[in-house]
Amino acid sequence: MQTLNPDRLPRHLAVIMDGNGRWAKQRMLRRIVGHQRGVETVRLIVEECSNLGIGYLTLYAFSSENWLRPKSEVSALMLLLKKYIRSEIPRMMKNNIRFNVIGDRSELPPDVERELTDALNQTAANSGMILTLALSYGSRQEIVRAARQLAGDMVAGRITPDKVDEQLFASYLFTADIPDPDLLIRTSGEMRISNFLLWQLAYTELYFCDVNWPDFGKEELYRAIHDYQARERRYGKTSDQLQKRS
Ligand code: IPE
Ligand code: IPE
Ligand code: MG
Repeated sequence: MQTLNPDRLPRHLAVIMDGNGRWAKQRMLRRIVGHQRGVETVRLIVEECSNLGIGYLTLYAFSSENWLRPKSEVSALMLLLKKYIRSEIPRMMKNNIRFNVIGDRSELPPDVERELTDALNQTAANSGMILTLALSYGSRQEIVRAARQLAGDMVAGRITPDKVDEQLFASYLFTADIPDPDLLIRTSGEMRISNFLLWQLAYTELYFCDVNWPDFGKEELYRAIHDYQARERRYGKTSDQLQKRS
């Protein structure tokens, strides 16, 4: 296991949890079995990140485009989600985790929405890691929604065009209260963003690994963070400029 520098942990880790279906297929199992095993990985990674002292963990659990999957898979995923949220509340309370959701919640079935509201309310006063689930989430949809709300505020006279800057625009996104991710991990070997946090990932370090999400574990997590800790984040500047500062 890699040793990590506790002073250089990502403040915000985002994960595209991919490969549940392939994990199952390789074992001649139904896709939903892969999703069930994926939930176990979620439990493990949430616990590890919370123990490490990571401030924000954001997990891409269901995209806007995932609604296009077969009805049977979508409803199985919704059921799994409902059960996961309900069963996780005691653990979130124990670990002082604050639960958060981003995405178009109006699309979710009412029973899932009820569980979400419950988990949000019960964990609202917790002061540890903020665990955000991206559900029915699409980044382009999020940006368009922000633009629409901003336009509405402008028409209503609450803001003027000269007030619109990056900070103001970002305040209309679902992630208004969350810093941009420092590190993004995507599992299963796919090297794409799949409509996840397009605005927020502008200067995020990207890490892709080949293991499917159900096989992702503590060792892979540490490897990803270790890799991140060796990187130089230049934000457009030169390496020399960064050295001089310290
Ligand atoms: C990720 O695993 C979970 C969700 C998108 C809900 P997939 O279901 O995408 O697994 P693959 O990519 O088909 O292997
Ligand atoms: C991205 O995975 C969405 C989630 C992990 C929830 P997908 O499996 O849906 O992405 P694509 O379709 O391969 O790009
Ligand atoms: Mg996939």
